[in-house]
This record gives sequence, C-alpha cells and structure tokens, in this order.
Amino acid sequence: MINRLHAQWHRPEQGWDPVPPGHAHQYAEGEWNLGVRETLLDELDAWVGGLQGKRVLDLGGGPGQYSVAFARRGADVTWHDVSATYRAIAQAKAQEAGVNICFSLGYMDEAPKCLNSPFDLVFNRICWNYGQTDHTFAQALFSLVKPGGVGYVDTPHSGWRRESLSTTARLRTWLNDVLAVKIGHPFPPHGRIARLFAAMPIETMRVDYSTPTNDRILFRRARGG
Ligand SMILES: C[S@@+](CC[C@H](N)C(=O)[O-])C[C@H]1O[C@@H](n2cnc3c(N)ncnc32)[C@H](O)[C@@H]1O
Repeated sequence: MINRLHAQWHRPEQGWDPVPPGHAHQYAEGEWNLGVRETLLDELDAWVGGLQGKRVLDLGGGPGQYSVAFARRGADVTWHDVSATYRAIAQAKAQEAGVNICFSLGYMDEAPKCLNSPFDLVFNRICWNYGQTDHTFAQALFSLVKPGGVGYVDTPHSGWRRESLSTTARLRTWLNDVLAVKIGHPFPPHGRIARLFAAMPIETMRVDYSTPTNDRILFRRARGG
C-alpha cells in the first residue's frame, strides 16, 4: 500500500529517478568489469531452446550488462528499469556493442501494463526487492512470461546481512518476513519466491540455494497456463 502510493507520487516519466548518478556509475563500472556469467546464459539458452530470435525482458536491467549479452546472442531484448541514469548507461553500452535493444522506463510492477508482452524469457537479477510486494510482483512477473516460456530470478534473501541492518530496517524486514507487509525494499525471506511461483501454473522449477545469501529460481510456465 505505502509502496504503491509512493510509486503514484514519484513518476519516472516526469524525471524522478531513485538512483543517485554517482552510485549508478559506480555500480555499472563494477558490473561491467565483472562481466556476465556465461554459464548462466548457456543454461537460459538451453531452457528457452536457443536465445536467437527469442523475446527477452531484462526486468530491472540497470547498467544493461545482461541485456547486451542476450542481444549479442541474437535475442530480441527489452530493457525495463525505473532509472533514467541507468538507461543512459545501458544505451551507451548497447551502442558500443553494436546491438539493438528496446529501452523502456518505468516501474517493474507496471511492466505488464506498458510492455508488449509476453516474453520467452523474463530475467530479474538483484532487484526483486524493489517490487511493491513479493506476492503482487510475483504475479506481475509471471504474467509477462508466455505459456511455455521461462522466468529467472536471482535475489539476496532477508537472511543476508540481517545483523548489520538498522533497527527500522530490521522491523521492516520482520514485517515482510512474518506478515507479508512490505514497506520500502526489504529482501524476501529465503524460500518465499519459489513458493509463490510453485503455486502458479508452472511446468517445472529449479531452485539454486547453493550460496548462503541468494535465492535463484528458474521456472517454466505451463504451456496451457
Ligand atoms: C542492484 S541493480 C541491479 C541491476 C541489474 N539487474 C543487474 O543485474 O546488475 C537494481 C536495479 O533495480 C532498478 N530499480 C529499483 N527500483 C525499481 C523499480 N521499482 N522498478 C524498476 N526498476 C527498479 C534500479 O534502477 C537498478 O537498475
């Protein structure tokens, strides 16, 4: 509710950008230097039956390192993010790489309303917590995936760095963990995202809990769902 009101009052199309430029440039430099995980791209390529020609949505695409990587593999990529600063960075990187990407500025939760969906792959990396609520954002993301298509989420969970949170951040995390009331951007509790998608019409799901910090979920939407 509070997050929804906040989004109504702060509009990216009217110039509102929550990401300070200094932070955006620093994060972008770090991510671009680090590079993308080619093994992950290979896995996604296999799940979608070859990325070439497939419609891919990089939801919360930030500096665009994955958008460009998907486009380099021949996918038809849409980048969607709330930050105009990141859009400028990602556009420059796409131009440098000589790839064509469709850029869309807006909230992730509003993507189903403003994008031409569905997509063969919806990719959501390190930005799940910016969704309005875990429940509604899972529904929004799922609605963007075409029947038989694939969704991928990688996010830190609420167990990560819990001890270093301020008292108010800890309270907001507790509210979301226990009561599913979301104020601001607490990370989801470990296991919740997989449970939310498991309750939707999916054909198969793979969860990767191999790191102590992140939940990684890959699912295929049911062909008839
Ligand atoms: C940590 S960055 C991750 C970027 C990228 N996915 C990656 O893998 O590097 C978080 C991203 O979420 C975006 N973001 C934050 N709140 C958002 C919202 N409500 N809707 C859309 N994007 C949002 C930020 O602009 C930023 O690009």
